[in-house]
Amino acid sequence: MANGRETTMNILILGSGGREHALAWAVKQNPKCDRLIVAPGNAGIAGLAECAGIDVMDGGIVATFAQENAVDFVIVGPEAPLAAGLADRLREAGVLVFGPSAAAAQLEASKAFTHEICDAVGAPAAGYARFTDAGLAKEYVRRQGSPIVVKADGLAAGKGVVVAEDVGSALAAIDDMFAGAFGAAGAEVVIEEFMEGEEASFFVLCDGKNVLPIGTAQDHKRVGEGDTGPNTGGMGAYSPAPVLTDEVAGQVMSQIVRPTMAEMAKRGTPFQGVLFVGLMIKDGQPRLVEYNVRLGDPECQVLMMRLGGQVLDLLLAASEGRLDQARVNWADDHAISVVMAAKGYPGAYEKGSIISGLENLPEDSLNMVFHAGTAEADGKKTASGGRVLNVTARGESLREARARAYQMVGGVDWPEGFSRSDIGWRAL
Ligand code: AMP
Ligand code: GLY
Repeated sequence: MANGRETTMNILILGSGGREHALAWAVKQNPKCDRLIVAPGNAGIAGLAECAGIDVMDGGIVATFAQENAVDFVIVGPEAPLAAGLADRLREAGVLVFGPSAAAAQLEASKAFTHEICDAVGAPAAGYARFTDAGLAKEYVRRQGSPIVVKADGLAAGKGVVVAEDVGSALAAIDDMFAGAFGAAGAEVVIEEFMEGEEASFFVLCDGKNVLPIGTAQDHKRVGEGDTGPNTGGMGAYSPAPVLTDEVAGQVMSQIVRPTMAEMAKRGTPFQGVLFVGLMIKDGQPRLVEYNVRLGDPECQVLMMRLGGQVLDLLLAASEGRLDQARVNWADDHAISVVMAAKGYPGAYEKGSIISGLENLPEDSLNMVFHAGTAEADGKKTASGGRVLNVTARGESLREARARAYQMVGGVDWPEGFSRSDIGWRAL
């Protein structure tokens, strides 16, 4: 086993999107990284790491793979394997892993659980009620009125939230959820007060005891220019988020993050990994919208662009319980990522169209095209998903980073794709 300091390490990253491409790109810049494997990976990731086609939902398979390949450190990208207990299985097998236990992953996997924790520590969040019965849920909505937010309690791949403008759509959402639209995730429904304000995300590494903020970001969830049209997984992101001033960030740490982490430790389920704190900020006061127990996608891409190779040291410190000795070396910089998606996304879209021009684009510490959904056919890159490329750049200002990113977008020859032309507008 490498001890993470003098020797080099073999590293396994789990996941297949732009988030994992960005993680692999940053980790690889660290001289401690020897062999780098990503499972399952994608066609872009294959350009800088070995890809392994194993089932990342199966803890036993991943543990055996790690042992057979002398893997010293596993970094888990997505939430589903974490909620299913993958990190627990790896720890039982003696494999060093970045990512929370299934018990701690409840902070993302159950919205009712997160509310319970916030109630216990007095962390500011939306007023709410929870239901396992449609009739009672509807009665509550009729009493509360609109706008109101209806959420499936469990993991629903980012789709289990309905922000209802009127009571009718809230009632319909309740019916859908109890009818199984999100499977078991909708067996319990959480109804929340609609919070107004500006949304931003805050990312904090946790080692079970210590916490270390690693950056802020904002994303654009709507598919259309000016933040209009249907919701998506995210059409672009930038870091830092101007609304998360030092003062607001200080409140988030003292009122939300530290109390939550202390409560998790007190319950015997300490959180180790990255806490993605989704916030609503109004008049300088932050309230929690949600926790995720992983990096955001595409927020990770802008964070990795800014942190670079030091991220491996930070993730190791979190996994080895020594975050109190770690620090982030900040450059006074900005990063932005523009998502290129297949035409039709987030509705129906075609797969398999050819993407050209990527080979002529710069790949350096200021410019990177991360692949979110690509495959390779006859030596050509093809689109294999809805969100396909994350065109990412860094600069001394957001304006400079944005100009770089859109110059690269212009160099991508992909008639079947599109992107928003206004990523970052709110901050500019
Ligand atoms: P989530 O899938 O939990 O990220 O929620 C999706 C989006 O719904 C969030 O990013 C917010 O824009 C919105 N949202 C969730 N909960 C609330 C709330 N209580 N008040 C206002 N907006 C919310
Ligand atoms: N971009 C939002 C998320 O990763 O959940």
